[in-house]
Amino acid sequence: MTPALLLLFAFSTWTSVFGAGPTVSIGDFMFVGRQTSENVEFFGGVPFAEPPIDNLRLKPPVLKTFSSGQHIVFNATQFGPSCVQTLVPVDEVSEDCLSLSIFRPANLELDQAKGDGLAVMVWFYGGGFIVGSSSMYDGTPLVNRSVFRGTPTIFVAANYRLGPLGFPRGDDVAREAAAGSRVLNLGLQDNIAALQWIQKHIASFGGNPSKVTVFGESAGARAIEVLLLSNQIQGLARGAIMESTGGTPPISATSSTANAAWDNFMAVLPQCANTSGTNVECIRHLKTSELIEGFINDRIFFNATISAGNPWGPTLDDDIIPSFPSTLKPDHGVLEAVIIGCNKDEATLFTVQTVNSTQAISDKILGSPPSPPDASPSQRKVQLQKLHHILEETLALYPNIPSLGSPFDTGNETFGLDPEYKRSAAVSTDMGFQAERRFHINHQLLPAGISAFSYLFTDPDAVPVQDFVTGMPVPGSLGATHSSEIFYVFGTLAERPEVKEVTPTAAKLSDMMMDYWISFANTLNPNDGKGSTRPNWPEYTSNRQELMQLNGHNTTAIKDDFRERQIAFFNRDPTVFGY
Ligand SMILES: *[C@@H]1O[C@H](CO)[C@@H](O)[C@H](O)[C@H]1NC(C)=O
Ligand SMILES: *[C@@H]1O[C@H](CO)[C@@H](O)[C@H](O)[C@H]1NC(C)=O
Ligand SMILES: *[C@@H]1O[C@H](CO)[C@@H](O)[C@H](O)[C@H]1NC(C)=O
Ligand SMILES: *[C@@H]1O[C@H](CO)[C@@H](O)[C@H](O)[C@H]1NC(C)=O
Ligand SMILES: *[C@@H]1O[C@H](CO)[C@@H](O)[C@H](O)[C@H]1NC(C)=O
Ligand SMILES: *[C@@H]1O[C@H](CO)[C@@H](O)[C@H](O)[C@H]1NC(C)=O
Ligand SMILES: *[C@@H]1O[C@H](CO)[C@@H](O)[C@H](O)[C@H]1NC(C)=O
Repeated sequence: MTPALLLLFAFSTWTSVFGAGPTVSIGDFMFVGRQTSENVEFFGGVPFAEPPIDNLRLKPPVLKTFSSGQHIVFNATQFGPSCVQTLVPVDEVSEDCLSLSIFRPANLELDQAKGDGLAVMVWFYGGGFIVGSSSMYDGTPLVNRSVFRGTPTIFVAANYRLGPLGFPRGDDVAREAAAGSRVLNLGLQDNIAALQWIQKHIASFGGNPSKVTVFGESAGARAIEVLLLSNQIQGLARGAIMESTGGTPPISATSSTANAAWDNFMAVLPQCANTSGTNVECIRHLKTSELIEGFINDRIFFNATISAGNPWGPTLDDDIIPSFPSTLKPDHGVLEAVIIGCNKDEATLFTVQTVNSTQAISDKILGSPPSPPDASPSQRKVQLQKLHHILEETLALYPNIPSLGSPFDTGNETFGLDPEYKRSAAVSTDMGFQAERRFHINHQLLPAGISAFSYLFTDPDAVPVQDFVTGMPVPGSLGATHSSEIFYVFGTLAERPEVKEVTPTAAKLSDMMMDYWISFANTLNPNDGKGSTRPNWPEYTSNRQELMQLNGHNTTAIKDDFRERQIAFFNRDPTVFGY
């Protein structure tokens, strides 16, 4: 809970204090970082916005400026604190969390300093918009690799507000929004602010602001997707990589789901029980510790919330998500190129292992939010009739035969679970992830003239990020699940306790994936021929719908036609599902 350390010194004394740490100056600030390896320098906790506390709590981010009139030496040797959440220990979270961590090639000035600066990769973490932190992502191996392959690249990870502090909702909040305050989707506004800051200041770190690729996984990818669809990303990046975007649809700020989630949160803030003012005014007067208590007491974590649909995701608003995402058409060329992909068994991670009926499938389909968002009772009735019909057809398209379920390609093995487990996971994987990927590419990216590369990650040795796992899944039952590609992209397989053994095939695939990603950041194409020898990844076009199967035993281009009928069925009219 300590605010980022600000130390005031005269410039002449800093070297004796910090030794030979690398430095970067912006305005009156001098950031002193540290080396994380021979080739990589790190700057942590670099603020991009004013702390969103006191009067700025539940307000849009205010970009940080660096002219204070005093010389300030900023200790940037550590990650900044994480935004308030229940995943991270209490002493590592703070409301003063709007910071970046920056990893860059070491000794840039001695390097082949390219006049116009290095390509920049900006990471938005996943975690369902309720947990996550840039401190979970070590950029050292990725940047180190970028140096060795001759395309030195900067890695930046940005924090954004989460849960009730990032995505407030309910009637009072909606009233503030209606009165013109941009109080909705604060977490997404933080994403935008981070990208704006990078445009302004990344050159000071050796980066080229016109060569920014933004990438993210899960919620982080979803954030990128909506910023792209509503053109908010215009001028802030030229490329994007979306890993496993999908999940639950955005809801309106005052839907019954949204109101219930907000009311439950307010109910665990005793200080706000009897105030005469609005919820928002009351929250603005609380202490951070009282809010953290609220997160804990409201049990804002995957096990308590995600399984019943995530009530803290983005909301429909006026500018960032003005209507259901599937109805938005991005401007021509809003980005130049995109990589977008899914993992083979995305939804096994979210499928309750005790499922023994079609209940989960039914809940998922019938639980779709009102469509249109302000549906009248009769419109809602029509929608629910459609959804019942869709449910029937879905059960027919996904019969209860284990060899057709997820984890896919595991024959009739059921891992000791009821066969309905594989069936439910297959439906959620396709409805929640694959359908969105296919729709987004074919109906939104390609028509906007954005070149697309797509992938299917299927490595048999993949394991999920342990922090995102609830309960104790039966061994083998997750397949290549949600979040399991992250360690390959970051080159951190060997660092992670989840990964019991780094097989040679996994290690090689990880090298290839880092190369594809870094190549894309530098050239907007994954095939720059540098680094590992790897198969050519074909561009996805309307005439040639191909994607790259990323598998340590068999990385190869395949047709994007698997489960064509099933996935097309979900894409007939995504707005029925509120997407
Ligand atoms: C910078 O902060 C770290 C962690 O708080 C601390 O260990 C280190 O001594 C600090 N450096 C200086 C020069 O204060
Ligand atoms: C950096 O990359 C080189 C070449 O691949 C490798 O030998 C070295 O272990 C890497 N260092 C780090 C810290 O990742
Ligand atoms: C709020 O008001 C109710 C009813 O007047 C009362 O029972 C309750 O104790 C009050 N709660 C607090 C925290 O003051
Ligand atoms: C959810 O998980 C958290 C963290 O593992 C745990 O503290 C909490 O008790 C769990 N809550 C429920 C409702 O299972
Ligand atoms: C199915 O699961 C439910 C809930 O876990 C349980 O109560 C019920 O006994 C199970 N039914 C069968 C046939 O196993
Ligand atoms: C799986 O079981 C079904 C139904 O019992 C059967 O038709 C099919 O051949 C089996 N598939 C495999 C791969 O064993
Ligand atoms: C590699 O994967 C493709 C596509 O799934 C498949 O057709 C091919 O048989 C596989 N090759 C090997 C050697 O397993």
